[in-house]
Amino acid sequence: MSCPVFKAVIPAAGFGTRMLPFTKAVPKELIPLVDTPVLQYVVEEAVAAGATDILVIISSGKEALKHHFEPAVELEKRLKESGKTALFDRMLNLNKLAKLTFVYQHELDGLGGAVRLAENFAGTDPCMVLLGDCVMDSFSELPVIGQLLKVYEQYHSSVIALSEVPPEKISSYGIAAGTLINGDILRLHDLVEKPSAADAPGNLAVAARYVFTPGIFSALHKITRGVNNEFQLTDAVKLLMASEAVYGCRISGKRYDLGSIAGFIAANVEFALRRPELQEVLGRQIINILKEKNIL
Ligand code: UTP
Repeated sequence: MSCPVFKAVIPAAGFGTRMLPFTKAVPKELIPLVDTPVLQYVVEEAVAAGATDILVIISSGKEALKHHFEPAVELEKRLKESGKTALFDRMLNLNKLAKLTFVYQHELDGLGGAVRLAENFAGTDPCMVLLGDCVMDSFSELPVIGQLLKVYEQYHSSVIALSEVPPEKISSYGIAAGTLINGDILRLHDLVEKPSAADAPGNLAVAARYVFTPGIFSALHKITRGVNNEFQLTDAVKLLMASEAVYGCRISGKRYDLGSIAGFIAANVEFALRRPELQEVLGRQIINILKEKNIL
């Protein structure tokens, strides 16, 4: 697919406190979705949408994220010798998905601080931003980030993924306010961080995927620390709206937040049930557990 946006940034430096103690020594972006780490899904989504250069923002102690995409000579040799060709091919593919570079966020001062570190990498090019702990399952043939790229190609402006959330979840997300201009595309006026359901301007939540013009970096330089004393990407996007048009795209797909306990478990159950070899035995076990707990 020919694509004018070929750079992607994946912030993956955060502490992951919601998944402690697991995340004390293991990066949360390596949390498995069945047998594949979250970060691999995210990298594959970017590559499927045309990314060839990917910058992953990591922090000290999260070097395993880098190792996951490096050659493992002994392992590959063993897989080849023992005739495990499919696995061998999968391991080899991992080493050549895209040009991956890694940069350290030394002070974990928020998502805004992480994305700001991509300024030199992006230069004067637009870039995709994909949160490293969220898997997006697309309902269309385009990956979710690819859906945003289509909007970018039309308007040459920044685009934010939006998905509808139920009232009880509104206060967990950034909620977008905008005018519907075309199908699922909105011209955004405002973003409200974690409003109460009563005060929210709607039910469209910011959904872990963005395409930004280079203007985002000037905005990231101007913002001050916000909620939790961190540099909030949302604040920079709001500032960007004052100087450039910013669009929202109601995505066709589902978001899985692997950085929360409930999200991690629910996503694993759902993805495991899609595997023909696991479906029956796992399905039966789940039904039995629910019956034992009087939930079913
Ligand atoms: P989260 O908002 O989930 O924050 O980050 P967190 O600190 O990682 O996790 P909790 O809330 O303490 O459990 C969303 C994405 O942004 C990255 C994270 O690694 C994650 O992939 N991030 C967050 C950074 O790269 N740097 C930061 O300073 C904060």
